[in-house]
Amino acid sequence: MVSAARIMQRCDALARHSEQPGGLTRVFLSPQNRAANELVLGWMREAGMRAQVDAIGNVVGRYEAERAGAPCLMLGSHLDTVRDAGRYDGMLGVISAIECVAALHAKRRQMSFALEVVGFGDEEGVRFGTTMLGSRAIAGVLDPASLEARDANGVTVKDALRQFGLDPLRVPEVARRKGDVIAYAELHIEQGPVLEAEGLPVGVVTAINGFSRMRATVSGMAGHAGTVPMHLRRDALAAAAECVLAVERLAKSDAELVGTVGRIEAKPGAINVIPGEVRFTIDIRAPRDELRARAVHDVSEALEAIAAKRGVACKVEMLQELGVAKCAPWLMQQLERAIAAEGVRVRRLPSGAGHDGMAMKTLTDIAMLFVRCKDGISHNPAESITEADATVGARTLLRFIEDFELPA
Ligand code: HGY
Ligand code: MN
Ligand code: MN
Repeated sequence: MVSAARIMQRCDALARHSEQPGGLTRVFLSPQNRAANELVLGWMREAGMRAQVDAIGNVVGRYEAERAGAPCLMLGSHLDTVRDAGRYDGMLGVISAIECVAALHAKRRQMSFALEVVGFGDEEGVRFGTTMLGSRAIAGVLDPASLEARDANGVTVKDALRQFGLDPLRVPEVARRKGDVIAYAELHIEQGPVLEAEGLPVGVVTAINGFSRMRATVSGMAGHAGTVPMHLRRDALAAAAECVLAVERLAKSDAELVGTVGRIEAKPGAINVIPGEVRFTIDIRAPRDELRARAVHDVSEALEAIAAKRGVACKVEMLQELGVAKCAPWLMQQLERAIAAEGVRVRRLPSGAGHDGMAMKTLTDIAMLFVRCKDGISHNPAESITEADATVGARTLLRFIEDFELPA
């Protein structure tokens, strides 16, 4: 039996490890990340798993198969959060997976395959600006250059790994061989309104939308706010503001597109100085890669035209791009069978949010089970789920595991 009460309590326990007084922010390789890892290691061991932190900072638990060393069905999600986050994005998937293994352990049931539960250390990419370092390392597709990425204090991922007590030279050892992992399945809150609108506690993900993450730098001319006439200004922030609206306008031009400017910084940032330089982020997503590529092109062109008109320079750097990650039909069907066995109508839906499955897809087939969240709110402290839905989610995942059929 799974205990949703314990799942909810453990999400609350993890939420207490935050760098943000009165809110939840837990970034990769932080002291709060370490504390959260310690909690999860303990829960994994209680559930009968061997558990340790791997060389890139993921927490990995293994529940052995009847035959030791057998390939595994990998479950999990991420333990890092965005700034001022909710307490279920990522955490619910890790804790629900541990709860399923605990249920198997309680009845001394072993499977013909091993189970591995991974708490990925860095899915959101908040600290270093590049996402999915943990899952890309496990999938064996982590570009070593990613370890040179720096945080706001100039600390590289490499240095942060060493300060965390890990050895960056051993990161390549984290990579799994294709035969090691039969499939990857992740339970995650929907972070959208569909399941709630249709009165469903869970749903099956068809594909994870692709994303392009960029940074734009607008360079104008800093000047005295009181003396420079308006027609002589090269105001970087006024130009950036027009750019932000251009991103919004282009994203609105197609119902399948979304475009977001989530962060903007103006320098020197004084009330009486015309901003000389502005940096802002651009996040563009779509369920079709060619639509996203065209949108990225159109946005870059629009920003160039605005910069030329205003006599400023605009540089757009691509930070990271990941294409659409389709879920495997043979896994979706098994999730659907488990959902139906729980007496719930089966609903397939795409994921607008990114997930570690986008990286894991390069190693193995993937599946995702969505759990309803209130008003579809996420990346917000108001993120919430019900204990009843946590029960359906965990029971469905456990049934998926117990009835799991290896690929033909
Ligand atoms: O950005 C995303 O979609 C995910 O929360 N990292
Ligand atoms: Mn998230
Ligand atoms: Mn997430």
